[in-house]
Amino acid sequence: MKTTLHLGQTLHFTKSPFEVPPGEAVHHETNGAVLVKEGKVAALGQADVLKAAHPEAGIQNHGQHLILPGFIDAHAHFPQTAIIASWGKRLIDWLNAYTFPEEARFHDAAYAAKIAEVYLDLCFDNGITTAASYCTIHPTSVDALMSAAQRRGLRWIAGKVMMDRNAPENLRDTAQKGYDESKALLEKWHGVGRLGYAITPRFAPTSSEAQLEAAGALWAEHPACVMQTHLSEQTEEIAWVRSLFPSARDYVDVYQSTGLTGPGAIMGHAIHLSDREWSALAETGTHIAHCPTSNTFIGSGLFDMARAQTLTIPTGLATDVGAGSSFSMLRTMAAAYEISQLRGQPLHPAQLLWLATEGSARALRLDTKIGSLKPGMEADLITLDLASTAAIAQRQSRATNIWEEIFPTLMMGDDRATKVLVH
Ligand code: GUN
Ligand code: ZN
Repeated sequence: MKTTLHLGQTLHFTKSPFEVPPGEAVHHETNGAVLVKEGKVAALGQADVLKAAHPEAGIQNHGQHLILPGFIDAHAHFPQTAIIASWGKRLIDWLNAYTFPEEARFHDAAYAAKIAEVYLDLCFDNGITTAASYCTIHPTSVDALMSAAQRRGLRWIAGKVMMDRNAPENLRDTAQKGYDESKALLEKWHGVGRLGYAITPRFAPTSSEAQLEAAGALWAEHPACVMQTHLSEQTEEIAWVRSLFPSARDYVDVYQSTGLTGPGAIMGHAIHLSDREWSALAETGTHIAHCPTSNTFIGSGLFDMARAQTLTIPTGLATDVGAGSSFSMLRTMAAAYEISQLRGQPLHPAQLLWLATEGSARALRLDTKIGSLKPGMEADLITLDLASTAAIAQRQSRATNIWEEIFPTLMMGDDRATKVLVH
């Protein structure tokens, strides 16, 4: 494999900008360079220094564009690609009216393969180099996404949704069938190339206690996998969970009592939580995927990022396509910022970028492999053009520091700003 030296501005987090002030968390080089060898970051530093040290390297000059680790989407539904931006419903009606009819189409391997390609193209356009994607109830949907990601050499996480109640008959498995099919898919795909399997009970309302226990048992047998589900997204959903699981203390307890909390359990949303639930997530080491465009689009509520960070709960950033209204992690960062403003705790641009890279990598337990420019990491790199449109360029030209330069792109940027680097 050849050695490539990428030249541009570089931004590297040496610490979490939630743990120290952003200025102390980041190393920025205006004339920076990233040396890539055999698919990994081999060195990071000043352009002149690395050019002199590595005359053998092929040069790719990205000018003033920012070189970053690729964005990591901590929670998405690839089968909802074609129904993104469906109007006017809240969660349960949205699932019944739009989502379940579309997901029923994924028993068809050709359709699943077609949407998998469309979805991965959209991720690529938006600088997303890794995601944790829910599939449908059908094993064909997992095979479609995993094989498409494998052909593209991607580090990707996916899993078959488990649902044995409160869904149309053609979208239901059983506790045993959900276990058996998930186990077979896990054995087929987990650790193949750069792929990882996520055990995926959709959420408490569509799984019986027996199915959640089966998912917990499968996870206990395969602790290297992650487990993903939804938690406390909307108030009606929470009331429904209370009536379906009358002996549980609360929504978190439904998962806690079935072996579905702990490091590597990724809870989508986690918006309306009691003090006990927050403590239980922190004490069990459970992770969260924050899905801000989804939370505004279907009217779910305002996630409390400050509380999650104070409790040191590993929290990633996610599109939640297609309740999320965008494939863009830039738009997702903008929505996270807007929600943080509505809570009176505005996120710093360093915190937004960190959440979309290393934060999501931590939430997916991939932070020893991706999410940073540290030497040794896999080189899934992107560039960010900080003047990708006339509106952004005129604002950026007034910037007096790097954060003022970056913030207009985080707020107003789209797929014109992002480019995945191919080595
Ligand atoms: N809760 C259960 N399923 C889903 C889904 O597909 N999208 C969202 N946003 N929430 C869910
Ligand atoms: Zn979701």
